[in-house]
Amino acid sequence: MQPLTGFRDFLPADCAERNYIFAKWREATRRYGFIEYDGPLLEELDLYKKKSGDEIVRQLYEFVDKGQRAVALRPEMTPTLARIIATNHRNFRKPLKWFSIPQVFRYERPQRGRLREHFQLNCDIIGESSAEADAELIALAIDVVRAFGFGANDFVVRISDREFWTELLKVEGVPPERWEEVLQTIDKSEREARTKTMERLGALAGPVFEILEKGGESTKLNEIIDNLRARGLSDFATVDVRIVRGLAYYTGVVFEIFDRAGKFRAIAGGGRYDQLIAQLSDNAVSLSALGFAMGDVVLGEMIHENASALRQLEVSVRSDHAIDIYVVIAKEERRAAALAVIQQLRDQGYGLDYPMTPTKVPRQFQTAEQLGAHTAILFGDEWPSVAVKNLATGEQRLIPHEELLTHLTANR
Ligand code: HAM
Repeated sequence: MQPLTGFRDFLPADCAERNYIFAKWREATRRYGFIEYDGPLLEELDLYKKKSGDEIVRQLYEFVDKGQRAVALRPEMTPTLARIIATNHRNFRKPLKWFSIPQVFRYERPQRGRLREHFQLNCDIIGESSAEADAELIALAIDVVRAFGFGANDFVVRISDREFWTELLKVEGVPPERWEEVLQTIDKSEREARTKTMERLGALAGPVFEILEKGGESTKLNEIIDNLRARGLSDFATVDVRIVRGLAYYTGVVFEIFDRAGKFRAIAGGGRYDQLIAQLSDNAVSLSALGFAMGDVVLGEMIHENASALRQLEVSVRSDHAIDIYVVIAKEERRAAALAVIQQLRDQGYGLDYPMTPTKVPRQFQTAEQLGAHTAILFGDEWPSVAVKNLATGEQRLIPHEELLTHLTANR
């Protein structure tokens, strides 16, 4: 039997890769002072129906639970975060810088870079309305991707402002209830035939394509680019009005990260959602907010297609998986003595393995190598001394067992 379409098994090598990605995510967010939170995997269906927008609602894994509640597996983290903040914000000094690594579920058509479950790094800043916060968030997004060994030739952040488009919609007299549909059409315009987009836009096609072709300017976006320049990060970013974002709650600056070659789907996306928290709050708490999410799927594909990023991953995974010491039991009557030493060294923090059943000595050395051990300790005829072998150099020394710990510590 196979896992469901769009779902993954994580064999040890896949888990190692996932742990590597999560560790880099945690390390980069720590450098920016973000702290971790989490929420439930299952939420009330209404949370998404009201807040995420039609596209995600069509992709929900939803069902009625045994208490007759309409519930859904989370397709994203932002509504959960907004709900948590609406009820708990008083306990925290603003601005909040929070991150989370949820697994999320969307019933999409599985294709390259798109599955029905994925993990996302979510980083959000709550309670800061200045453009400095947008720049800080975008700088973090850039540094997260850089942490995997990618440079300005490999990826770019395309930054835009939804207000370009909402201003146009106001001028053109488009009623607010149609805005989401129009914004989604613009969001899709890059991936769709021009005639189809024009058909969907109707009378708006002219002015929309004029902006798409001419590009746009805004003092806010210039301020963000200048801020990134001050950090030495402006090579990683560009203003691009084609970015609109598919989710309904964005209100201002939005951005997406793509590989430069344009081979993959977006690695990450985010923006400002200054009204979402108020909408989820009983007493209309008004807090500005902005954030982004980066998925593990596209990122993993990009790592596998970039030689140096892949080497960095492999080196890290190999050293994480390797044990330190393999204990070779050459004489079964030494097993009890070996176990005592194994326990003592494990207590000291060493990683050790040994044969659980009687095994030929050459075979044991083979296993030691496969496991990446740097040292083998051989329990045999020399007892109460043991042979300590450096597996990299082949050098071997006899050490009285009571001096073993001192010897290992000195050579660590
Ligand atoms: P999103 O653009 O829907 O944003 O997802 C963010 C990233 O998750 C995408 O750029 C992509 O890498 C990955 N992703 C999305 N769907 C899939 C899928 N089906 N399979 C694999 N990867 C996928 C959000 O989710 C917003 N809540 C982000 C945000 C946080 N905005 C503010 N704070």
